[in-house]
Amino acid sequence: MASLLHLLFFLFLQPLFSIANVHKLNQLRSELISQPTPLNDTPPTLYFEVTKPIKLPKTKPCSQLILQHDFAYTYRKAPVFANYHPPSNCPSQNFSKIVLEWKATSKGRQFDRIFGVWLSGVELLRSCTAEPRPNGIVWSVEKDITRYFSLLQKNQTLAVYLGNLIDKTYTGVYHVNVSIHFYPAEENLIDHDQKLASWADLILPISRNLPLKDGLWFEIENSTDTKLKEFEIPRNAYRAVLEVYVSFHENDESWYANPTNEYIAANNLSVPGNGPFREVVVSIDGHVVGAVWPFTVIFTGGVNPLLWRPITAIGSYDLPSYDIEITPFLGNILDGKSHKIGFNVTNALNVWYIDANLHIWLDKQSRRTEGQLVKHTSLPLVISLVSDFKGLNGTFITRVSRSVSSTGWVKSSNGNITTQSIQKFYYSNTMVMGNNGDVQIVNQNIHFNDTVHIMSPSSIVHSLSSHKTFPLYLYTDYLEQKNNTYLLVTNVSLGVIEKKTASAGSRFMKSSLRNLQNAEGHMVVKDNLVVSGVGNTQQMYRYHGGKFCYFRNISSSNYTILYDKVENTCNNKPKSNWDFGLRRLWPFGAGFI
Ligand SMILES: *[C@@H]1O[C@H](CO)[C@@H](O)[C@H](O)[C@H]1NC(C)=O
Ligand SMILES: *[C@@H]1O[C@H](CO)[C@@H](O)[C@H](O)[C@H]1NC(C)=O
Ligand SMILES: *[C@@H]1O[C@H](CO)[C@@H](O)[C@H](O)[C@H]1NC(C)=O
Ligand SMILES: *[C@@H]1O[C@H](CO)[C@@H](O)[C@H](O)[C@H]1NC(C)=O
Ligand SMILES: *[C@@H]1O[C@H](CO)[C@@H](O)[C@H](O)[C@H]1NC(C)=O
Ligand SMILES: *[C@@H]1O[C@H](CO)[C@@H](O)[C@H](O)[C@H]1NC(C)=O
Ligand SMILES: *[C@@H]1O[C@H](CO)[C@@H](O)[C@H](O)[C@H]1NC(C)=O
Ligand SMILES: *[C@@H]1O[C@H](CO)[C@@H](O)[C@H](O)[C@H]1NC(C)=O
Ligand SMILES: *[C@@H]1O[C@H](CO)[C@@H](O)[C@H](O)[C@H]1NC(C)=O
Ligand SMILES: *[C@@H]1O[C@H](CO)[C@@H](O)[C@H](O)[C@H]1NC(C)=O
Ligand SMILES: *[C@@H]1O[C@H](CO)[C@@H](O)[C@H](O)[C@H]1NC(C)=O
Ligand SMILES: *[C@@H]1O[C@H](CO)[C@@H](O)[C@H](O)[C@H]1NC(C)=O
Repeated sequence: MASLLHLLFFLFLQPLFSIANVHKLNQLRSELISQPTPLNDTPPTLYFEVTKPIKLPKTKPCSQLILQHDFAYTYRKAPVFANYHPPSNCPSQNFSKIVLEWKATSKGRQFDRIFGVWLSGVELLRSCTAEPRPNGIVWSVEKDITRYFSLLQKNQTLAVYLGNLIDKTYTGVYHVNVSIHFYPAEENLIDHDQKLASWADLILPISRNLPLKDGLWFEIENSTDTKLKEFEIPRNAYRAVLEVYVSFHENDESWYANPTNEYIAANNLSVPGNGPFREVVVSIDGHVVGAVWPFTVIFTGGVNPLLWRPITAIGSYDLPSYDIEITPFLGNILDGKSHKIGFNVTNALNVWYIDANLHIWLDKQSRRTEGQLVKHTSLPLVISLVSDFKGLNGTFITRVSRSVSSTGWVKSSNGNITTQSIQKFYYSNTMVMGNNGDVQIVNQNIHFNDTVHIMSPSSIVHSLSSHKTFPLYLYTDYLEQKNNTYLLVTNVSLGVIEKKTASAGSRFMKSSLRNLQNAEGHMVVKDNLVVSGVGNTQQMYRYHGGKFCYFRNISSSNYTILYDKVENTCNNKPKSNWDFGLRRLWPFGAGFI
């Protein structure tokens, strides 16, 4: 993800071929100047991210085009604003699904750009633009934004920040439409599954206030940089979930491949360091309430841009957000006073973009709830580093673990409910540098278990838990050739493996996802321009959610889809349906999922 500063840095201050060894991927970011030029009448290429479709009711949506804008020279300027009004002429106001649609076209040459979409400061989408081609490209992102229902019921201001640069070389303007589609509930379904009552009643923005320029995210520049936001919650809250948005750029764009400082110093290198481990720490009034060990999103220009055309990298068009259950802490913040949420990033280098949305459920039967944090443990990071190097060759093994757990009760008209929230993380990264630093192999795994138990007044224990694994394998071989030309050979595998379970007493429900990408390719780069190259990407997506399943096996090579198999029937038909049935098992606000 290139920003202006970074561009200047690597194009002018850091002559590419003076760093003979250890080539940080993001410093090698090159552009596809000599990409095969399709014939003039070739229609724009459709780019996409493989993901399961949003389960929609069979009703006709009420659609609104909220913003239409051409993002040309927008770098470090103010976001683009538009007015949002709830749909007024819709036959029904009982919506069961609300979908945000980002649709864009671009033509020419352009770097990948990070962007954000906010509604009155609440972030709805964090995403990365696709890189255009001379014949033009088109792509769209559909995101289920039903969880922001309470916000969408009032007039609001939509803001989009997409920092783009236009000049003689970088000609790609992004033509963008942002729409919202409201799907009325199906009337014949008396099923209370469709009710929206279980989403948060209030969503507070934990983002930057009215910026004059740039995005509404906070920018975290180094490991000691903490960004704080004051907030105040209504005194009748009974549940709270903090949804955190994260993206990493410039020196930390490929943090998982950053060498240790010891290695950099010993070899007199000038590449981004601090090793390959990062953690986002979230605090309230200085107490750690949870952490985020982010998924390794690779942007559309990352590693080798040819790999991500037309199938983009997992999460790059819709970066994941991370939920932290903070209900146990409500007792500390129900006093009607102002409190502070803080973010910092362990080992951070410039720059991380972070903000959050605080989802709050209110007790409509009372003006005051009360609560208490009973137990809180945040065990410090346990880090082990084994490093063995001689010159530029070496092996580095980093292992880290951490857990955060908190228990607290809240008494509301629902009764006196105790909530326990537990996060457990484990990380391992093996980095091998060979051939005097020209070969780098990274093997990384992040494991994250997240569990929330609630003990209701009837003493039934409701539990929600998820187990996530983010595997990453990265192989890069830099082969210097004559005449300012090099060949970069890369293999990448990345994925999201996730299992979720929900239970109430003896009732039980589960869903699973395996989403894996294998990509390999090479490119010949001359003076920062890609002269030729190949990119092959294969992806297997397998979601099982009870009654709803989605399976896709797809492969592409040099812009061409080689095969694409889609299935959406479940092999074994379980009774439960994760997407809808959950609200019966989780009565106190299903917004968690
Ligand atoms: C629509 O919602 C309103 C208010 O929530 C409710 O009174 C009404 O019964 C709902 N109508 C249908 C058809 O569900
Ligand atoms: C945006 O909407 C306008 C008006 O409907 C349409 O002409 C234009 O083609 C759309 N652009 C994109 C990128 O979808
Ligand atoms: C919302 O915006 C519409 C259109 O500008 C306006 O007519 C209406 O009065 C606004 N509603 C509120 C509650 O401000
Ligand atoms: C870290 O970043 C903050 C915010 O820009 C800055 O004030 C501080 O001096 C930086 N610290 C170091 C050690 O560079
Ligand atoms: C690094 O630089 C120092 C001082 O400039 C020099 O003494 C040392 O030999 C260099 N080490 C290597 C590995 O190039
Ligand atoms: C990050 O914030 C947490 C909570 O306030 C604090 O314990 C930790 O020391 C901070 N980390 C750094 C490096 O400042
Ligand atoms: C709520 O329940 C907890 C744990 O059972 C108990 O310690 C606390 O005193 C109760 N609070 C009230 C207000 O009854
Ligand atoms: C997560 O839970 C699974 C299954 O109980 C366990 O095997 C794994 O070790 C746990 N991982 C962490 C990081 O706690
Ligand atoms: C590093 O490894 C390469 C082979 O991979 C070898 O040719 C070179 O001599 C090694 N360098 C050192 C300093 O050991
Ligand atoms: C090196 O590049 C220059 C400029 O692109 C070209 O004129 C020259 O023929 C090349 N030399 C070799 C040996 O490839
Ligand atoms: C890279 O991928 C290719 C094609 O899948 C495979 O043949 C090769 O062995 C891989 N190399 C490495 C080092 O992973
Ligand atoms: C992709 O391009 C490379 C190099 O031009 C070529 O060898 C390969 O066959 C191409 N793949 C397909 C599927 O066309």
